[in-house]
Amino acid sequence: MKTPEFWPGPMEGVMTSPLLRAAAELRLVRRWMTFFLRVTGVPKRKHLEAFLAPFAGEEPVTLQLMGNDPVAVAATAAAAAAIGAKTFNLNFGCPSRQVTSGGAGGGALRDPDGMIRMIEAVKTAIPDRPLSVKLRTGWSDPAEQEVFLPRLAATGCVNKFFVHFRTVKEQYLPVPGREERLKRSLELAGTVPVVLNGDVETPEDAAALMAELPDCAGIMCARGWLRDPFLLRRLEGLPCPEPEEGRETFFRAVTHGGFPVNKSIELSNFLWGKERNPYFSRLVALPPHSLFSSAN
Ligand SMILES: Cc1cc2nc3c(=O)[nH]c(=O)nc-3n(C[C@H](O)[C@H](O)[C@H](O)COP(=O)(O)O)c2cc1C
Repeated sequence: MKTPEFWPGPMEGVMTSPLLRAAAELRLVRRWMTFFLRVTGVPKRKHLEAFLAPFAGEEPVTLQLMGNDPVAVAATAAAAAAIGAKTFNLNFGCPSRQVTSGGAGGGALRDPDGMIRMIEAVKTAIPDRPLSVKLRTGWSDPAEQEVFLPRLAATGCVNKFFVHFRTVKEQYLPVPGREERLKRSLELAGTVPVVLNGDVETPEDAAALMAELPDCAGIMCARGWLRDPFLLRRLEGLPCPEPEEGRETFFRAVTHGGFPVNKSIELSNFLWGKERNPYFSRLVALPPHSLFSSAN
């Protein structure tokens, strides 16, 4: 197995500038995938620059695009490449009904031909840049990956898959069979590397998953990374504080310079869970539109 890559999962609404900055300062990640840039038309250069700016730093950045119009998404990729974006990802996994109803995000999984058109259009627009795909195992049935994964791999345009083991219909519900589904994803992807995603919250779970699926290219952790911000470092065997101290360190680093109260509540709920959130009573007592600062 090549050295596995550990990825923080993209999280729209969570990946604010202060959070990204704190994570970079604490060296919690080695790479970023942006949350989705929703493409409806080709964004202006200013908009693209503003979208990418919070991710700018030492870590390489993969820009995630999501849309249903191959022409617009391809033109957006080209525009982003022109201002320096180096690596691209297509989102075929977002389960939001607003998104899927128009055939974007996870909605694309219902139309393998459409996914291929999108992938080929984007690759044609950015032929020299790596293009990966983040997707789920199906729209309503994990057996769907049997059909689309080999076809997407056969385009020769995808350099990596990020597979969240659930179907779109399963949203974030607890479902059994993660290992079996992802094992099949690896087989179906053939020679295209696969990063495994879904419910990895501890180093023990990651180690067990990688022991069972040693051909994977790595692991992506989204919510687990927020519950233990040092998780990706832990997976690499780097020095780390205990999880509780890590949560505290990270929350303080994010909110130090002032962070919106509503976002602070959301982040602390992610970090500790609603029931065990040590900041909750303090935060809800503040005006919702004010700033909270751990420095005070
Ligand atoms: C709040 C939130 C926002 C998310 N935003 C995105 C996104 O912008 N792009 C994406 O590909 N996945 C997004 N996801 C999905 C995660 O990246 C990941 O695939 C999913 O949560 C399963 O992994 P986990 O069990 O490690 O959280 C989001 C998930 C959450 C919880």
